[in-house]
Amino acid sequence: METQAPIAIDIKGLKKSFDNGKSFVLKGMDLEIPKGMITVIIGFSGTGKSVLLKHILGLHQPTDGSIHVLGRELKNMNREEIIALRKKMGVLFQHAALFDDMTVLENACFPLKEHRPDLSKKQREDMAFHKLKISGLDPEHYSKMPSELSGGMKKRVGLARALALDPDILLYDEPTTGLDPILTEMVDDLINRTHRSHEGSTSVVVSHDLHAAFRIGDNIVMLDKGKVLFQGTPDDFLNAELDLVKRFVDKGMGRKK
Ligand SMILES: Nc1ncnc2c1ncn2[C@@H]1O[C@H](COP(=O)(O)OP(=O)(O)OP(=O)(O)O)[C@@H](O)[C@H]1O
Ligand SMILES: [Mg+2]
Repeated sequence: METQAPIAIDIKGLKKSFDNGKSFVLKGMDLEIPKGMITVIIGFSGTGKSVLLKHILGLHQPTDGSIHVLGRELKNMNREEIIALRKKMGVLFQHAALFDDMTVLENACFPLKEHRPDLSKKQREDMAFHKLKISGLDPEHYSKMPSELSGGMKKRVGLARALALDPDILLYDEPTTGLDPILTEMVDDLINRTHRSHEGSTSVVVSHDLHAAFRIGDNIVMLDKGKVLFQGTPDDFLNAELDLVKRFVDKGMGRKK
């Protein structure tokens, strides 16, 4: 008998309008993201993937509907509680979004500085050093500024920063967009290894890239026009009879590789 996986993020009837209800970007989204798995969220440009991710982080307020993260409804949380919850979530934003005026090490230290004032500077730096190391960046780069790094190196710093607080939930927005195929595979591999190394952790990867979805996803969600069109295993996805899924598969699989 199949046992139901516990849910890390539970979204019900989520609606979002940025123009006082004239139009909706999210149009009543229902989505359960299982704990301990890698869920890849795909969909054409402009369907609301990033907006959804920002809701999960508490950076956008829903116009309607509910979001529970690790059993708590975001709406009912005060500022301190949201900050405490964010400690359990690591984010790798698109383009890594590093602080340009900080070194690599300072960037990787940033969440520790914010959330772990109880630690000494040395302790924080040691922890950030370790995260940079496991993200695959060599110490010779740690005192460099982001402008001196390649795209792939920036992603690694972004990943180290996302991992700083050993989060239970890792969110990635287009982690490989703009990278070449070799780097793409490296970053996918890193996401995979990171996920497996933290038992029970939940990873959510927003991507355009169907190859990535198949390479790393346990669970695939396809959004279309602000709603969930499909959710299932990679195999379910390939076999889905839905027209839009077929179009996405044709496009995604025909592109490269
Ligand atoms: N802060 C905002 N204010 C107004 N509209 C917004 C805001 N953020 C996003 N939108 C709109 O919401 C829609 C969905 O945007 P979103 O960034 O979530 O798309 P996406 O699925 O992530 O696309 P892509 O694959 O190109 O990154 C777009 O039409 C966008 O213009
Ligand atoms: Mg986006």
